[in-house]
Amino acid sequence: MMRKGADVNQFNRNQKRTVINQPTKHSALIMPSLLAAPFDHLGKAIRDLEDAGAILFHYDVMDGHFVPNLSGSPHIIEDLQRTIRSRFDVHLMTSNPERVIPWFDLISVRSISIHAEASKNIQADFEAIRSQGKSAGVVINPPTPMTSLDSLFEHVDQVLIMTVFPGLGGQRLIKDALKKIEYCAQRRNALGLDFAIQVDGGVKEDTIRWVFDAGATEIVSGSAIFERPDPAEAYRHLNRLIGNEA
Ligand code: DX5
Ligand code: ZN
Repeated sequence: MMRKGADVNQFNRNQKRTVINQPTKHSALIMPSLLAAPFDHLGKAIRDLEDAGAILFHYDVMDGHFVPNLSGSPHIIEDLQRTIRSRFDVHLMTSNPERVIPWFDLISVRSISIHAEASKNIQADFEAIRSQGKSAGVVINPPTPMTSLDSLFEHVDQVLIMTVFPGLGGQRLIKDALKKIEYCAQRRNALGLDFAIQVDGGVKEDTIRWVFDAGATEIVSGSAIFERPDPAEAYRHLNRLIGNEA
């Protein structure tokens, strides 16, 4: 049975309004990444973070082809959604994303992002994602220039900027990628758009402020939450570092 919980979309609406009215001050949502979560008690690990305020979880899908690793069956989300109230942000690190998108037509999936480097027809993929009632986004790897997305900004609900090479948790954030976050935030403000600016990879206690100050509005963090002795306290601590009450 679904538990009653916070409204992720309500949060986003408020967040977007704040960004538009006050471009220099914004808030960001932290999304714990389940790649680093303990799979022997996954539901409990999520519920513990929900009790600490988490409402959206990042879910990595890897196909062993686009990236050299495997993760993320939709069946895990199907099972989880019976006992948690949060929603999922799905990050498809797969070739042929058009084949994978329909597998994530699940009630608790809020958003799906596909790699610019993997999609053969990005507008068609966005359409497929939206036809399932999900927010559609594009992801770019560290070597892909942000300017390659210039023509896409008006068509996305979220842009996910990789700050590590995709495939593994626990890597160090690539500092050069901070400029991409700044560029994305600057273009978004200039164009008067309100898509989410997501950042993924190497976000920890000492780097979260960098990505937040650069303009991130949805921040993924895996090992800095789940590999700490008390993940709920680690989540609260990261929130405090970016000015969220926790
Ligand atoms: C990496 C994944 C990330 C990963 C981040 O390819 O896309 O979502 O879980 O892990 P940390 O926060 O440990 O860098
Ligand atoms: Zn990810």
